[in-house]
Amino acid sequence: PRNAARTAAGVVELAGVDVRELAEQYGTPLFVMDEQDFRARCREHAEAFGDPTLVHYASKAFLSVQIAKWVAEEGLSIDVCSGGELAIALRANFPAERIALHGNNKSVPELIAAVEAGVGGIVVDSYHEIARLDQIARERGVVQPVLIRVTVGVEAHTHEFIATAHEDQKFGFSLSSGDAAEAVRRVLKASGLKLVGLHSHIGSQIFDASGFEVAARRVIGLLADVRREHGEIDSLTTVDLGGGLGIAYTPDDDPPPPAELARQLHNIVQKECEHNGLGMPRIAVEPGRAIVGPGTVTVYEVGTIKDVELDGGARRRYVSVDGGMSDNIRTALYDAVYDCKLVSRAAEPEARAVLCRVVGKHCEAGDIVVRDCWLPDDLAPGDLVAIAATGAYCYSMASGYNRLPRPALAAVTDGEARLLLRRETEDDLFRLEV
Ligand code: LLP
Repeated sequence: PRNAARTAAGVVELAGVDVRELAEQYGTPLFVMDEQDFRARCREHAEAFGDPTLVHYASKAFLSVQIAKWVAEEGLSIDVCSGGELAIALRANFPAERIALHGNNKSVPELIAAVEAGVGGIVVDSYHEIARLDQIARERGVVQPVLIRVTVGVEAHTHEFIATAHEDQKFGFSLSSGDAAEAVRRVLKASGLKLVGLHSHIGSQIFDASGFEVAARRVIGLLADVRREHGEIDSLTTVDLGGGLGIAYTPDDDPPPPAELARQLHNIVQKECEHNGLGMPRIAVEPGRAIVGPGTVTVYEVGTIKDVELDGGARRRYVSVDGGMSDNIRTALYDAVYDCKLVSRAAEPEARAVLCRVVGKHCEAGDIVVRDCWLPDDLAPGDLVAIAATGAYCYSMASGYNRLPRPALAAVTDGEARLLLRRETEDDLFRLEV
């Protein structure tokens, strides 16, 4: 977070709040989110893209009612991809016209909920869905604005599980096979639907804009084809290029700022539009990680420490913390790289740094939170450690594995902390039992 600092005694303060007090008050593991950091990143994106409503916060990265209120207050739009995310946005009184619904298999009740709420966009992802949504809209006497999700055939340079624009995967209508053009025909024929945009999302945690450029070029190519086949479509104003801008997880990472991405996208879209004799569309994006990721840390308490001898005589120190893969599955799932720091005090002056592996408390050997990091050799049970940049896809992908309670999540701002989500309790475990 931008507002993190260490006191003279080496204690970390987040937005002016002592991390030890946070742990005392709310327990550990604890997610601590810097509200001003979150809001500043919303504004940075809004400025970069010239209009806050063109920036859709991808709520799958992290969502709670309070977060949806912050996003609404900052004037952004929001992307939801399930009935649950939609319900949370609506509970926050998020303006429906600034909500877009995604998903490759939205259920009929989800589509109905979105149409009845009057969401500003539904991103259609299959022929079945086009027919289904058309019927739902017509039955209600409304015309639903839709975008068509296009698979542009880009190989994004990121982990396989989070790359989404190569042909062989579940999302979107393929451009090269002609499915995307056929989807346009079907939407234009459907009296319950109004085509407002074309959408592409190439993947996540991307540092190199070239993938976005190829995607933009191909989407504009489709726009030109549509214009040739159908003439000018007044409602078709938007090209949404999805999310995916990467963030720094360790000091070695150097992601491009949103303004640079915005400038590159603008330039390439402009060039392609001029080339094809098209007017400039509105360029929308859907950042999740780049808004919520950097400003949150997870605070854990160290429980046990163990040295293990490796082949060749080297040793590895295992530092066990009180959470693990249930609050951060990213290391186990994507080989994600994080760093870990002692935050509740300074290390002793004579302490050496030792190579450590930070592991959780789950009954699974793959329950690794940080594969390799340097921690002082005086690290002891009871110390607090923190992992930076855990705001995106950690809480939102949290599970109850081994029946661990989901951690609490607190927001800090100007020296004050408040709980956004309380820790699960043992009673919560029994809530669903019949
Ligand atoms: N738009 C669409 C259509 C998406 O599918 C996604 C992410 C986003 C926007 C937001 O992408 P972002 O700006 O946050 O990269 N669980 C994985 C990431 C999966 C992303 C899924 N879709 C992770 O922890 O890295």
